[in-house]
Amino acid sequence: MTGIGNGSKAFKKSILTITLAGTLVFSAFPIAEFGQANAEPLTSQVVTGKSNAAHDQKVVARVDAKKAIEHIRYLSEEIGPRPGGLEAEKQAADYVASQLKNNGYEVDYQYFPVADQYIATVEFADGESWQMGAAPNGKISDTPMNGEVIFVEDGTNANDFPADVKGKVVLLTRASSTANYRLQVDNAVLAGASGVILQSVVGSRGNYGSTFNPSLTKSYDIPVYGAAYIQGEWLKEQMDNGPVEISLSSKHYSNLQSVNVIGTKKAKNKKNNGKEVILSAHMDSVVGAPGANDNASGTGLMLELARVFKGYNTDIDMKFIAFGSEERGLLGSRYYVDQLSQAERDNIVAVFNPDMVATNYDLAKNLYAMTVDGSTNIVTDSTTAAGARLGNSDILPGKFGSSDHVPFHNAGIPSALFIWMGIDSWDPLVYHIEKVYHTPQDTLEDNISQDRMQSALEIIGAGLFDVVRKDVPGLKR
Ligand code: BES
Ligand code: ZN
Repeated sequence: MTGIGNGSKAFKKSILTITLAGTLVFSAFPIAEFGQANAEPLTSQVVTGKSNAAHDQKVVARVDAKKAIEHIRYLSEEIGPRPGGLEAEKQAADYVASQLKNNGYEVDYQYFPVADQYIATVEFADGESWQMGAAPNGKISDTPMNGEVIFVEDGTNANDFPADVKGKVVLLTRASSTANYRLQVDNAVLAGASGVILQSVVGSRGNYGSTFNPSLTKSYDIPVYGAAYIQGEWLKEQMDNGPVEISLSSKHYSNLQSVNVIGTKKAKNKKNNGKEVILSAHMDSVVGAPGANDNASGTGLMLELARVFKGYNTDIDMKFIAFGSEERGLLGSRYYVDQLSQAERDNIVAVFNPDMVATNYDLAKNLYAMTVDGSTNIVTDSTTAAGARLGNSDILPGKFGSSDHVPFHNAGIPSALFIWMGIDSWDPLVYHIEKVYHTPQDTLEDNISQDRMQSALEIIGAGLFDVVRKDVPGLKR
């Protein structure tokens, strides 16, 4: 799912230097509920009394970013994009389950229904293939249709299309409004195109455009696909070197089941009264994206901590959970929380949710422990305190929704999202995440930092250990 040959690699480097809306503003993104990061000094309010750097070393000296990155490699390269409800997500689930079982954990699968997917495959002569979104109202067929691609400028006017468009697959830069891209599709069809690929330009977070399912009001008997920005650029780059033949096919996936994978570690003694701590990470990705940072990184961190924690007795039960279909609306975590009784909810002491914990994006300077409402809790406190003990100043508390900590928060359970990002203190409404977020460029090669992974493992691992380890007095909900 990466680029084609070295040509596109070189190209990728050059586009990273142009700025595509480098920053973004809160008001445009209602889901994010983003607010000012709290710049308070790192003083711990955790009631442990036993915290000390020597204890931290039991975890810190053992966690290994290379091992976590091997999980990223498997998930993002061996499996590739993992859209919720599809086979690839199930492969990720099986991978996570086998890793947890190998470490001696009891593992359960929790299935839940999810909505249909319409997914396109664009294949090249050399066998390379890309995933895109397919318009449900365009032609959906898994019988491949071959055609030459041709780029047409604008396309919102019928006379933008030259006569030789007939019988070809037209690549268009997606107009920003839905009404206008529908016009582009109408015009391409009138001009006799055999297929349409709309190249998305910008994403909702200042990132390069992601794949999407074009939303059409009429039905068409040709395929209409939504490509990521970079896929459009890669196609144009190839066209500069001569005619490009592609094969188009698509599929409507229905009656889908997505899945959560739950690994359990029981406390050594029975004095914990059923209390438990959860370390969770979503394993799915958006269509077309290998999701190396989002969120093979969180899944890899979770598996690496599961490996290290298997060697220690804890006073609190631990659950290591890989959630499915987070990208489709936090579906796995919502389902998980919905299934719990009030008594079970009351037993959850803390939820640590790493999501995007290893980007190499230079402006993502801090590892934020984000709560939905910006208040601190046992998760933010234990990790900021761990950072202070370790002399690691990467960690800061902050306020953000948009991940699997939200359903837990809504059920009154202390939870936080861990994510590397940059926040300009002079303007709390502006934040920086990598431009390759939710794109085919979210790869191990282009978006993963071993140092950032190591720092996240140490801080989250030490904070988590402080919460679950033996002799923790007076844990507060
Ligand atoms: N990892 C992201 C969340 C994220 C991205 C948080 C950037 C902060 C900055 C997550 O996987 C995601 O994309 N979530 C969805 C959730 C939605 C479908 C409810 C989102 O925010 O679009
Ligand atoms: Zn994510």
